[in-house]
Amino acid sequence: MTSTILELQNVNKTYSTAAGDFVALKNINLEITAGEFLGVVGKSGAGKSTLLNMLNGVDQLTSGEVCFQAEGERLSIHQLTEDQRASWRGKNMGVVYQSFQLLPMLTLAENIMLPMDLSNHFNPRKAKERALELLELMELAEHAHKLPSFISGGQQQRVAIARALANDPPVLVADEPTGSLDSVTADHIFDVFSQLVEERGKTIIMVTHDLGLASRFSRSLTIVDGELAEAQTEFDRTMLRRRK
Ligand SMILES: Nc1ncnc2c1ncn2[C@@H]1O[C@H](COP(=O)(O)OP(=O)(O)OP(=O)(O)O)[C@@H](O)[C@H]1O
Ligand SMILES: [Mg+2]
Repeated sequence: MTSTILELQNVNKTYSTAAGDFVALKNINLEITAGEFLGVVGKSGAGKSTLLNMLNGVDQLTSGEVCFQAEGERLSIHQLTEDQRASWRGKNMGVVYQSFQLLPMLTLAENIMLPMDLSNHFNPRKAKERALELLELMELAEHAHKLPSFISGGQQQRVAIARALANDPPVLVADEPTGSLDSVTADHIFDVFSQLVEERGKTIIMVTHDLGLASRFSRSLTIVDGELAEAQTEFDRTMLRRRK
């Protein structure tokens, strides 16, 4: 059975700047199914990061609604207070960025323990155990007590993914997670995300510039000037060519 985990209804986002208002998202309607690996593609400035920030509640929308549905409950996340939304996000959303964003003075294990410490879902001993398990999952167990600057970019991104999984959220949001990696490493990171969808049932929403990767999502969306364009993946085009 498929179920909707996130639903965006008539979402608009306008940024106010010194030069006037700028409409970054126009009337976005979107349903995301639990267990989807959804790709978001589009040119620089199209509104991809803005869309992610709306659906994980990092930033306020101008109008519309984002609903999160899990365990029979439906939550309109932008109606929560700032504190409620932060606590909802800590439990339900893991975030991965292009620039990894690991804290340089903490070891890899400590970086992963941080979200668990903040959310108070795990006692310190359990948090440490879990951090080591997640490093094991990312094949980095032997580096647990190193600082981030002593491992490669691809390894740092795997630590960032482990950190995003710390509180075992159902959804991961990734903004160009392969953007600063070479193509072989990028491919490997992409495989890690695919496995999280296939083997752990995570829902993943990923922004990418890499059209080569777009064919490997279960669905991909294109944003053009803040609007959702008709979704057509490379996969669809290949299938169409084959049918001709
Ligand atoms: N805080 C802000 N204030 C004003 N304008 C903003 C702000 N954030 C983004 N914008 C504008 O909104 C538009 C969409 O930005 P967004 O960051 O979502 O694009 P993007 O698709 O993620 O681009 P990129 O691929 O370069 O990361 C851009 O024109 C950007 O300049
Ligand atoms: Mg962006």
